[in-house]
Amino acid sequence: MNIKKISKVITTSLALSLVLSACSDNKASTDEKKDSADKGKKVELIYARGKDDTNATQKMVAAFEKKYPNIDVKFREMPADTGKQHNAYVTAFNAKSDEIDVFDMDVVWPAEFAQAGYVMPLDRFIQKDGIDLDEYNQGALSASKFKGKQWALPKFIDAGMLFYRTDLVKNPPKTWDDLLKQAKEDKGKGGTKFGYLMQAKQYEGLVCNTVEFIASYGGEIINDKGEVVVDSPEAIKGLKKLVEVATSDVVPKNVTTFAEPEGHTAFINGQSAFIRNWPYQFALANDKSQSKIVGKVGVAPLPAGDKGPAAALGGWQAGINKNTDVPKEAWLFLKFMAGEEGQKMDAINGGHAPTINKLFDDPDVQKANPYFKEEGFVNALKSAVSRPVAPNYTEISDIIQIQVSKAIAKEITPEQAAKNMQKEISSKMEK
Ligand code: GLC
Repeated sequence: MNIKKISKVITTSLALSLVLSACSDNKASTDEKKDSADKGKKVELIYARGKDDTNATQKMVAAFEKKYPNIDVKFREMPADTGKQHNAYVTAFNAKSDEIDVFDMDVVWPAEFAQAGYVMPLDRFIQKDGIDLDEYNQGALSASKFKGKQWALPKFIDAGMLFYRTDLVKNPPKTWDDLLKQAKEDKGKGGTKFGYLMQAKQYEGLVCNTVEFIASYGGEIINDKGEVVVDSPEAIKGLKKLVEVATSDVVPKNVTTFAEPEGHTAFINGQSAFIRNWPYQFALANDKSQSKIVGKVGVAPLPAGDKGPAAALGGWQAGINKNTDVPKEAWLFLKFMAGEEGQKMDAINGGHAPTINKLFDDPDVQKANPYFKEEGFVNALKSAVSRPVAPNYTEISDIIQIQVSKAIAKEITPEQAAKNMQKEISSKMEK
């Protein structure tokens, strides 16, 4: 390994600055990769994704490299916050950087990234290799389809769930009011400091929590006809409950600084009876090397409002940088990760819910994630609420984040937040 490659490995965690680094470095990396390929040596591939707190990515890369010894995959860790990660890719791809070859996209990005020309359409590869798209969860698949083309393949599907401590909670709460009551009673028991943890920081996770509160009261932000309908009595009820929970004394005082990592860290350290999080929380809470609550975690649907429980649909999809200089190898790696073998590993090691439907019947996957079989989880996945699929989704998301944050800070009422969102989102909708 030459000096440049060694230095690249060492600085993997400085993803952001590297993405933004001088073009000369990109050029050198391109030459190196081409050189290696020409001489039949190892081809280096850079794979970027957000911080992975489980060891799933490492294991996935090792399994791939074992199968394809001529491909050397370097993992480029991006910020955990999906919005920051998004901006880092936009900066790099706008500059036509070829540094990153394969990367994971949040379920809400493919339309934007396809429109902007950042990603390569995968249809040609899919056809050539006879990938059976019918095997995939169709909702997840359609999130990476735009203008008739497939721009990514879904790696895992996320749905918001309620995780709780089985040593403290007998029957998980069915409604938001129940949750507040139980969380109040349980706070302080078994060494806990909090009753409930949620994502209330001003970022994409807050949008997911908002979608869930609003939908649990029968409201929507944008309906399936593409109309903005957030200024409705149902949506306002949802917003009111969100503000009530986020300003209650069961959540940390600084809950508006909490994204997923702050929450899951507190939860696995035994500091809370309940947390709203994505499926990976289960694997993490049962990881002996980092969790103090192994074997003490239950999963339930999120609490209901007037309408019933609701989960936001999340998930990640793998795509290829349009400017990659190693498209063949990039596809091989993407196909492995989003294929049966990769998804099975990710379900077992990372606790992620697969997008290849039949993997839910796999005994090893079920053993690692016993709740994947439970009705509550299956229903949450089936009925999960999508965020809008739009090339300008980021702008819509920013409006929601700002207005809901103001409501939590009590600068405006939930009614005002709904009115402002209605007006501002409407002005951003494509005519
Ligand atoms: C998870 C979801 C993703 C969502 C994000 C919000 O990573 O999979 O879709 O946008 O959380 O923080």
